[in-house]
Amino acid sequence: ALALVLVFAGAVTWLWTTADVHTAGRVDFDEKLAVPPLAESRVDDRGRRVFDLSMRTGSKEFRPGRSTPTWGFNGDHLGPTLRAKRGERVLVNVRNELPEASTVHWHGMRLPARMDGGPHQMVPPRGRWSPAWEVDQPAATLWYHPHPHGATAKHVRRGLAGMFILDDERSADLKLPDDYGVDDIPVIVQDVRFDGDRFDDGQPLMSNSGSLGDRTMVNGTLAPYHEVRDEAVRLRLVNASSARVYSFGFADGRDFSLVGTDGGLLERPVGLSRLEMSPGERAEIVLRMRPGGRTVLRSFPHDGGDAWQDRFNGNDDSFDVLQLRAAGTLRDSPALPGELVRPGLPDGGDAVRTRDFGLRTSGINGREMAMDRIDFAVTRGTTEIWKVTNEDGVPHNFHVHDVRFRVLSVDGREPPPELRGPKDTVHMPGGRSVRLAVAFDGPADPDTPYMYHCHLLRHEDRGMMGQFVVVEKGGRPGTVDAPDPHG
Ligand code: C2O
Ligand code: CU
Repeated sequence: ALALVLVFAGAVTWLWTTADVHTAGRVDFDEKLAVPPLAESRVDDRGRRVFDLSMRTGSKEFRPGRSTPTWGFNGDHLGPTLRAKRGERVLVNVRNELPEASTVHWHGMRLPARMDGGPHQMVPPRGRWSPAWEVDQPAATLWYHPHPHGATAKHVRRGLAGMFILDDERSADLKLPDDYGVDDIPVIVQDVRFDGDRFDDGQPLMSNSGSLGDRTMVNGTLAPYHEVRDEAVRLRLVNASSARVYSFGFADGRDFSLVGTDGGLLERPVGLSRLEMSPGERAEIVLRMRPGGRTVLRSFPHDGGDAWQDRFNGNDDSFDVLQLRAAGTLRDSPALPGELVRPGLPDGGDAVRTRDFGLRTSGINGREMAMDRIDFAVTRGTTEIWKVTNEDGVPHNFHVHDVRFRVLSVDGREPPPELRGPKDTVHMPGGRSVRLAVAFDGPADPDTPYMYHCHLLRHEDRGMMGQFVVVEKGGRPGTVDAPDPHG
């Protein structure tokens, strides 16, 4: 009965809003793609790689002659790409030069909860915060962004987001394209809408998912092209949008090879023609170009059973995202290896328990996020099965801090290839139910929680989030305070 009601509501709203759905999206690619610089670093006397990141206000001309107020890390908009190797110890000196408190969260990083940069690690205006940890996880494309409770959407949309690339020995041997900015390209995708000279944060009528833009930008470039000089090119895709789900493919219908997902490389490359990515998810893809060839990375209207929900939520547009232009002669690139890595994901065979998570826009398991409530504790060194269900038919996704999980099943079936690799965020369209194997092999801290939440930023801000702590065997959760929201 619920399904019927949802379908009916969807159909009515679809008719109502179709007039408003713009399939614009065709773009003249006349701007060279900006590539975020690699962050400078130094090694301190304790052997740690040290980065400096300051959050500041700025402005940027996205469109000629019109400057838009922005926020950025070490610059006007977005941030530099941090890069470190497995086994390295890193220290990041964060400074907050914004007029309000914020945090910096390392999305996808396994690290002590106090270093996580979630809503409990607020940095007040003019404050500093210097998290340090050892990188102890496989090569992956991670990202960083603020996580102040209730204001994440605002801070990310103004431009606070950057990439964090991890390397390891295996990834260095694989001969994947790895010349940063040349054949290994960061592709941070965000949708945006301008209201005069400002970013528009307004909500389209009837959208349940949060604010959606009417065009996309990559690395802050609105109509980007990238000149390719090598036969093979790797794109490191990050969906850093507030709410938009993309269905990526190429305008000429070509296949591409998926080599990595959120938490690192796959066992072997998988050929795909479409790749769905919800906010927070990452993917590494490799495609081959012919001399002089051009192609366009496009987000297509969603198809399949969830399409009506996308229309319902105004989330069904097509966007031309990035044009790739190959030079007249290209440098040879080696063929992709048949085998990549052993991802080392938990299979759930030794799970100590199962937990259920019911997702609704109003909260998870019927509860809104509370900063001073620990929702549950897990034991360090154990694996659990988490069964996550979308219960209200509104688009959601599900992200867990500190872990790389395996998707065991989607609606009771084998996951598709793009969900078989290491994940930390999974798309949860209406009615979907997934089972995840989640291993807690990072450090314990009974007093400092990690978050799990919907990564549609408005949902997260409004309380679709919960907190768990990792404790030693037999340990009990401590207590957390609600920190001063102003830091
Ligand atoms: Cu990318 Cu808890 O976030
Ligand atoms: Cu949600």
